[in-house]
Amino acid sequence: MPVSNKVRRFMEQGSWIRRMFEEGMTLKQQHGAENVFDLSLGNPITEPPTEFFDELRRIANGPTQGMHRYMPNAGYAETRDAVAGQLTDETGLAFTSDEILMTCGAGGALNVVLKSLLDPGDEVVIFAPYFVEYVFYADNHGGTCRTVPPDERYFPDLEAFASAVNEKTRVVLINSPNNPTGVLYDADLLSRLSDIIRSKEQEFGTEIFLVSDEPYRKILFDGLTYPHIFHHHIRGIVATSHSKDLALPGERIGYVAVHPDYEGRGELIDALNFCNRTLGFVNAPALMQHIVKSLQSVTVNVSGYQAKRDLLYDSLTGMGYETVRPQGAFYMFPKSPIEDDVAFVEELKKHLVLVVPGRGFGLAGHFRISYCVDDRTLEGSLAGFRAAIESVA
Ligand SMILES: Cc1ncc(COP(=O)(O)O)c(C=O)c1O
Repeated sequence: MPVSNKVRRFMEQGSWIRRMFEEGMTLKQQHGAENVFDLSLGNPITEPPTEFFDELRRIANGPTQGMHRYMPNAGYAETRDAVAGQLTDETGLAFTSDEILMTCGAGGALNVVLKSLLDPGDEVVIFAPYFVEYVFYADNHGGTCRTVPPDERYFPDLEAFASAVNEKTRVVLINSPNNPTGVLYDADLLSRLSDIIRSKEQEFGTEIFLVSDEPYRKILFDGLTYPHIFHHHIRGIVATSHSKDLALPGERIGYVAVHPDYEGRGELIDALNFCNRTLGFVNAPALMQHIVKSLQSVTVNVSGYQAKRDLLYDSLTGMGYETVRPQGAFYMFPKSPIEDDVAFVEELKKHLVLVVPGRGFGLAGHFRISYCVDDRTLEGSLAGFRAAIESVA
């Protein structure tokens, strides 16, 4: 057998989204693609903003010598300067290019960060429901995840969090706005979370890093502004990308930002550079770095996502579904009307609506809807949602 037992087990565990995707393909063949309402994938239908194509054309029409060569592992200084400038504007903290490392998406950023921080046996605290790749990313670098349950708002249960942190805890990994719930962690929550981290650091004499995975940071609704972790914990690291805010997931461009006042940042940045290289990424794609340098303050049309959130939330709650109203990203995570989320997802499938069971995100009894789809698909799914809840009532 060619595949290790561990990878086989992980493939089984992490395959919910892929499974729905494959079943969706079969259903589309049977019923016609236009009759199947696939809300299972987090792949935005939005095209990148016009500024992206303007930059792409400008660069293609005026190539400069060496623009496709190797560069420092952290990326181009001018791109890192632009990212630092944007973060300074958003946070009021004095970021410089020295605190920024360009990466292959948020996934690349998280792997570089975890490899830099973890020793074998170290623990990463994650919060259910979570992006399932975290479990595999931690394992890539010898770590294990310890999961904390949510409260009724999908905020972390802070008492459970305090008891989950121990002498092996090296990283606390948060994701806000959240995949799969769409919930935004507010400043009060970040402050209370960070207080617990600091008291545990004192108790155990350790350094614990608050790592914030924020590819949805700019997809915020209702005029909300983003509460940054950098105001709460000095061992703060952001891992993010332009996969969602510029709709460039296939281009693999993101970055890591380290708190500019963290005294160990020099050594940490050296490690991030080393790990970017030795994980085989080497550096983030050159062409994308040339482009996103000028797009740090540009974002896809968020009001389109907000309108879809409103339509879906109002429709589902009107039908009797229970769910928290998302404040960002493009996901919703309703409670399954019956205990068994897989059975309910099967019921929805009978009505040609595809979603992902909550257990794929470490929280059974729910299901995830990804509403980054066109309006026809979203509106077309509503009859199926109604029929499914009525059939189990
Ligand atoms: C919460 C979360 N983190 C990280 C990623 C990975 O992002 P990227 O495509 O930039 O690697 C995703 C992608 O969907 C995500 O939802």
